[in-house]
Amino acid sequence: MSSAQTPAVPASSMSVLDAIYRRRAVRDYKPETLDRETIEALLDAAVHAPTAMHIEPWSFVVIQDKDLLNKLSDKVKELLLKEVEGQTSEPAQKKRAYANDPNFNVFYNARTLILICAKSEDISNKADCWLAAQNLMLAACANGLGTCVIGLSIGLFNTPEVKEYLGIPSNVSPAAPILLGFPAGDTPTVPRKPPEILSWK
Ligand SMILES: Cc1cc2nc3c(=O)[nH]c(=O)nc-3n(C[C@H](O)[C@H](O)[C@H](O)COP(=O)(O)O)c2cc1C
Repeated sequence: MSSAQTPAVPASSMSVLDAIYRRRAVRDYKPETLDRETIEALLDAAVHAPTAMHIEPWSFVVIQDKDLLNKLSDKVKELLLKEVEGQTSEPAQKKRAYANDPNFNVFYNARTLILICAKSEDISNKADCWLAAQNLMLAACANGLGTCVIGLSIGLFNTPEVKEYLGIPSNVSPAAPILLGFPAGDTPTVPRKPPEILSWK
């Protein structure tokens, strides 16, 4: 892996601002699998995120086994159904509908999932992991790759059985599951509200 002066991700003509405005949550991927070199380069971009007290509290799990991703998707759906049992709120109803849909794969049939794990439950460690996640997503976007955070799967990745299976030590907390792959098409822009400024003194 490279030093901060030499980006491991190939140079792209896209500016940082372009990547910020063009990045989309991609939910449709081509079946091609990403190579190790590209993934390592994106992980290198991730670890160049700011980190409180320079602790660098992140570690990574890469899952590219299609059958495993399908099994994990089924497990996420099982867990979601348990979580929303008896609940009638709108988010609970949405989650139930997703979980009951046999055609819904929580990982959208993507071939790569990068799980960014925090080396403790400490809030600043988790914040660092999310900053690393954003670095990774912007670097991927600048290189024509799609990403999507899969918050629905965080609960499953934090269960003792799944952590043990993935070789995640008990004191390490999965924080940010990020899909990664070649987008199958264009993803429409999702508009944002203007920033709400509470005070400016
Ligand atoms: C913490 C977090 C969790 C998310 N979880 C999911 C998820 O489980 N499934 C999904 O399809 N998108 C998920 N997303 C993506 C958001 O739905 C998406 O970012 C949002 O709709 C805005 O779209 P954009 O990223 O294309 O601008 C998540 C995003 C964040 C930041």
